[in-house]
Amino acid sequence: MKNLPPFLALLLALVFTQLGAQPALPGSAPRPIPALMYGSAWYPEQWPEAEWEADLTRMQAAGLNMVRIGEFAWSSLEPAKGRYELDWMERAIAAAARHGMVTIIGTPTDTPPAWMTTKYPEILRVAEDGAQLQHGSRRHFSIGSEKYRELCREVVGQLAVRFGHNPNVVAWQIGNEFTEDSFDPESRARFHRWLEAKYGSLDALNTNWGTAYWSQTYTDWSQIPMTTGRANPGLLLEYKRFVTDTWRDFQRNQIEVLRRHVDPRQLTTTNLGGLGWATRFNRQLIASDLDIISWDEYLGSGWFDKTKNGTGHLDPLRSGASHDLVRGWKQKNFWVLEMPPGFVDWGSVSNSLDRGETRAMAWHAVGHGADGIGFWQWRSALNGQEQYHGSLVGPDGEPVPVYAEAAQTGVDFAKAGPVLAGTQPVSEVALIHDYDSRWAIEFNPFSNRYDQMQILIDYYRALREPTQAVDIVTPAMDLSRYKLVVAPSLNVVSPELAARLGDYVRAGGHLVLGPRTGMKNDANALNRERQPGPLAPVIGGRVEQFYALLEDVPVAGSWGSGKATIWAEFFNRLAPDTEVVLRYGAGNDWLSGKPAAIRRTVGKGTLTYLGAVLDGALMTHVTETWLKEAGVASSVISAPTGVKISRRVGAGREVFVITNFSKGPQEIALPGAMTDVLEGGEVRSVKLPRYGVAVLSRPLAR
Ligand code: GAL
Repeated sequence: MKNLPPFLALLLALVFTQLGAQPALPGSAPRPIPALMYGSAWYPEQWPEAEWEADLTRMQAAGLNMVRIGEFAWSSLEPAKGRYELDWMERAIAAAARHGMVTIIGTPTDTPPAWMTTKYPEILRVAEDGAQLQHGSRRHFSIGSEKYRELCREVVGQLAVRFGHNPNVVAWQIGNEFTEDSFDPESRARFHRWLEAKYGSLDALNTNWGTAYWSQTYTDWSQIPMTTGRANPGLLLEYKRFVTDTWRDFQRNQIEVLRRHVDPRQLTTTNLGGLGWATRFNRQLIASDLDIISWDEYLGSGWFDKTKNGTGHLDPLRSGASHDLVRGWKQKNFWVLEMPPGFVDWGSVSNSLDRGETRAMAWHAVGHGADGIGFWQWRSALNGQEQYHGSLVGPDGEPVPVYAEAAQTGVDFAKAGPVLAGTQPVSEVALIHDYDSRWAIEFNPFSNRYDQMQILIDYYRALREPTQAVDIVTPAMDLSRYKLVVAPSLNVVSPELAARLGDYVRAGGHLVLGPRTGMKNDANALNRERQPGPLAPVIGGRVEQFYALLEDVPVAGSWGSGKATIWAEFFNRLAPDTEVVLRYGAGNDWLSGKPAAIRRTVGKGTLTYLGAVLDGALMTHVTETWLKEAGVASSVISAPTGVKISRRVGAGREVFVITNFSKGPQEIALPGAMTDVLEGGEVRSVKLPRYGVAVLSRPLAR
């Protein structure tokens, strides 16, 4: 420690004290996962071993307590078929442990080595245009290849046997950011077998897909195309489900090997990319097979405007919604295994986050339920495809400017970890995000103004601001814990789903349906009874017609007045006890005077259907009405504009994470005395500079 600057030496001492960090001996009980795990992707295979010690010393000084290793290291772990070289990994894990760090092992299956793709070219991915990928990048394998799965089992088996009882290994990340599906002949055959298993007969498939349309009738399974183009809506939806199942299978292939050999206290996870909202496959189902889910938060990635990905600054609203989405996949806390230390290298302009923003971004994630934060990456790689990417130390191994901020976060986390242990966000309100519906609308949006994710975010904003807690869940989950459930674009509604939603309402729940509800059935065919399909008898009304709007239309009623924009549906055939709460005003002759929103008391609850997208002000007002009717508690601490507050509850206490994303300093008044976890002492208000963070706790009132 004597060559370190004094502040680093101090931090190092603090971290040692906090973690009680002594490396565990092989064969002894696994080391506990830190309550707030904090680490980085580290690639020891890319550096001379003599440099590891200096890297790890710097990591420890920044308060890191975890490294993730191995996820691209196949050529270093198995340099030739069947020749395994795992000793270096063992030494890396032991060295990290000596510096107080636990290890997550990434299985290396995102990057099959060159000897493998040469020996077994059939494992290479084929793009939709038929081109086979070459070696030299990553993600060049076919998710449908049996041979590739066999090779994955072999390497993962070797790793599992070797490290499955290493007490310094706390988790396994399977592969890295599942992304591309493959159109090779084996995957096509797999698709046909999958369809056959699902439908049993071609007659059933032809009926469900309505293949008489344009002479699509199939007489042999092999005739069915595999495409993402403008194909039959039934085929397109089934293809997404097939891709989901294929990834699940790909992942299970490794989970099975791991569970056979590793200590069950070592968790399985995968990092589901910065594309939290991406729609290639159903991420919630992927998550359901794992112990804990992780995602990688990179600015804006996954939003429709791809030109903004990796550029600009954190949008706390969208970021918060992304965390809530990920938390909803398992309805429990999660890890963010990758976050940029300042900047990426793939944005249209890879600008840096402001000073303080990286720390605020990490804390913001923790507020929304992250129990672990990792950076990508520790040290700038000398070569390879991502040379410019943000890191904590430069190619020389010396800190870059953002290192000090990361070290401050390390100090914060060491202080706050014990207070946050056993807590999680708790919400009385759920928003529904449903992949089938999302895909169905995406295949044919009908209006490019209908940006379903923007619409979801508009609802999220209106619901979160007054409550500071919203869960984003799938419709298949247990909704009974929520007082209010809002489903903005629930396009696909099967009779089974309608029955479950009806039961939720009858038992006392308040359910709000948004535009485009129940237009389609499970096969992505139109529901004959029109919208909201099988929910029409429950609400006592149906959509007579839907319209994509070019011009706004006024609306007014007991909810207030404002404008319908982008989308408008009107209702008809109302049951006597179905109430009209909004009507369209003059302006569009199809709509004027017609019901825009209806509501009915059903059993002990209410069912509401809002058929239009509303302007922001009316949306806020209407949402307040819903929250009030459902009896949802409002937030404990009022947030000035730009200040984000999250509340985590558990272990007999409530913990508030406050981050100031406004342009200047802010003072936040508290409703009573709270413990200031980061600064110490009791406080009744906190003053935060721009990007300032406060963590406050108090015992939970009984
Ligand atoms: C992630 C990926 C990392 C690295 C990073 C760069 O999506 O998992 O391996 O490429 O992006 O931002």
